[in-house]
Amino acid sequence: MCGIVGFNGHHEAAEILLDGLTKLEYRGYDSAGIAVRDGSKDAKIIKAKGRLDHLKEKTDNGRSVAGTCGIGHTRWATHGEPSENNAHPHCSDDGNVIGVHNGIIENYQELKEKLVRNGYRFYSETDTEVAIKLVDYYYKKYLGTPVDAINHALVRIRGSYALELMFKEYPEEIYVARKDSPMILGVADGESFVASDVPAILKHTRTVYYIGNLQMARVGKGEITFYNLDGDEIEIEPKTIEWDAEAAEKSGYEHFMMKEIHEQPKAVADTLHSAVKDGKVDLSELGLTEERIRDFQQIYIVACGSAYHVGVAAQYTIEDLTDIPVRVELASEFRYRHIPLNEKSLVIVISQSGETADSLAALRKAKEKNLTTLGIVNVVGSSIAREADHVFYTLAGPEIAVATTKAYSSQLIATDCIAIYFGSVRGVLSDDRCAELLDALEKIPQQIEKILEDKERLQWFAAKQSNAHDVFFIGRGLDYAATLEGSLKLKEISYVHSEAYAAGELKHGTISLIEDGTLVISVLTQKRLIEKTVSNMVEVKSRGAYLMGLTTYGNYDIEDVADFTTYVPDTDPHFAISLAVVPLQLLAYYFSVSRGLDVDKPRNLAKSVTVE
Ligand code: G6P
Repeated sequence: MCGIVGFNGHHEAAEILLDGLTKLEYRGYDSAGIAVRDGSKDAKIIKAKGRLDHLKEKTDNGRSVAGTCGIGHTRWATHGEPSENNAHPHCSDDGNVIGVHNGIIENYQELKEKLVRNGYRFYSETDTEVAIKLVDYYYKKYLGTPVDAINHALVRIRGSYALELMFKEYPEEIYVARKDSPMILGVADGESFVASDVPAILKHTRTVYYIGNLQMARVGKGEITFYNLDGDEIEIEPKTIEWDAEAAEKSGYEHFMMKEIHEQPKAVADTLHSAVKDGKVDLSELGLTEERIRDFQQIYIVACGSAYHVGVAAQYTIEDLTDIPVRVELASEFRYRHIPLNEKSLVIVISQSGETADSLAALRKAKEKNLTTLGIVNVVGSSIAREADHVFYTLAGPEIAVATTKAYSSQLIATDCIAIYFGSVRGVLSDDRCAELLDALEKIPQQIEKILEDKERLQWFAAKQSNAHDVFFIGRGLDYAATLEGSLKLKEISYVHSEAYAAGELKHGTISLIEDGTLVISVLTQKRLIEKTVSNMVEVKSRGAYLMGLTTYGNYDIEDVADFTTYVPDTDPHFAISLAVVPLQLLAYYFSVSRGLDVDKPRNLAKSVTVE
């Protein structure tokens, strides 16, 4: 949510900032802006409403803005509509402090009133302008350093922020501060870089510093000094990023989403292989002792969006393979819910970014309650990865499209591995059964490849159906979990209203929405439930529905009921969702393309939701 970049070095800053913002546009794209300083001259602030391209046009791709030190921002609006006026950077009345911000200042009204009483005027509706003017106020009040002023402001601000500031009297420096919103810093060849996320600086350096909560930094040219809230200097160890810069490029695909759909075999294989030792699923490296695993009486899976849908699937798989009761919860609910305490619980937080505000808050709540926590996270060094007791890294590489595909698929595999490992440790699964399950998992990457070879039929079907007003997805058991994800993919990138229903629930309301020609997509991979779901298909067909069936090769009877059927390879039913989801992703993709929409950057959404 909102992307931040900063550069302080010897090259021209504007082009580097715009390039970094291009890599972060998935975080928000309703307006963008940069502020660049050329030595001791006043900073130049340029902003534009809409996509980053507008800002690029306005600045001749950065060439019309001189200076080697600057900050930039791409916005996902929270306070104030998307407009040039509300776009960042914002600045204090006399241009003394200029800054950009990602996050939400919860007490901005109260702070604004205080500043108004002290003579400040406000030109935008943003909480960011308040934060910047508060820093300016303390800077002038105490006549100290920028670090002192920021410290005073941080003590007063409630909420989350990644703040990046420039001070008129320190033209060769950038100052940053962070609480609960992501921010990384990097140094290479006497130059410094700031960003919300790794892809923005990957081509300059792979050595990055993760600034901690309530910490600050002074960013000079090629040197960074870190401070705690008391203003004392602190040391932060650099971390090396393994992702290569190409992974964050489109590599010939028209959209990141299609590229990432095609990267799923690799993401799944890499994630699986990280959990296999000597031919067995072995997660001992997570640091959970076997005794501990045997002791768990309850598992909570907590996540948001598609990661929550992984949790729904994992609930079926883990309960089935381990006999441990599993409860899957939306992080935004879990964090505020009263949980009767059972210390023998494991809380699994699933998050691609590792920064989702609700998931992070849920993790902290679990820790406060002394529950053991395990993060399934894609971004190394992210907040959830750092704060969870144990971390299982998915190896999906950088995911850029807002609609997740390869991260979702590798999260599924991670939960499958947890299910097999726990099942084996607890004696629920025999060695033979574990070997059989692993064998099935090993085949998933090549089975996904096979689905991807045959995508033209789906493209044709999507083009024919893309004017649909409503689409319903039905399935039972793990197929229901697949429909949740299929429906979310469709609605988020094609803007077609869609809903997923447990097939057995149809009769309790939704069936009244079925009209002549309404598209109903039915997922049927769970052998013992297929007949039941077919009955539900017949029920909606007799009310006029147009039916698509998604099933495994061999179930050719489905063609007797469905108007269009697509097939995935056969596998162990626990893992069929890893295959069923792929045609659903492709369908959503082709719907969006047929409707002429921006697949990678759907309206109003952001990839990483770092605000509540
Ligand atoms: C956003 C993204 C989704 C993602 C969800 C949770 O809504 O668009 O693709 O599933 O956030 O994100 P996380 O980074 O925690 O997995």
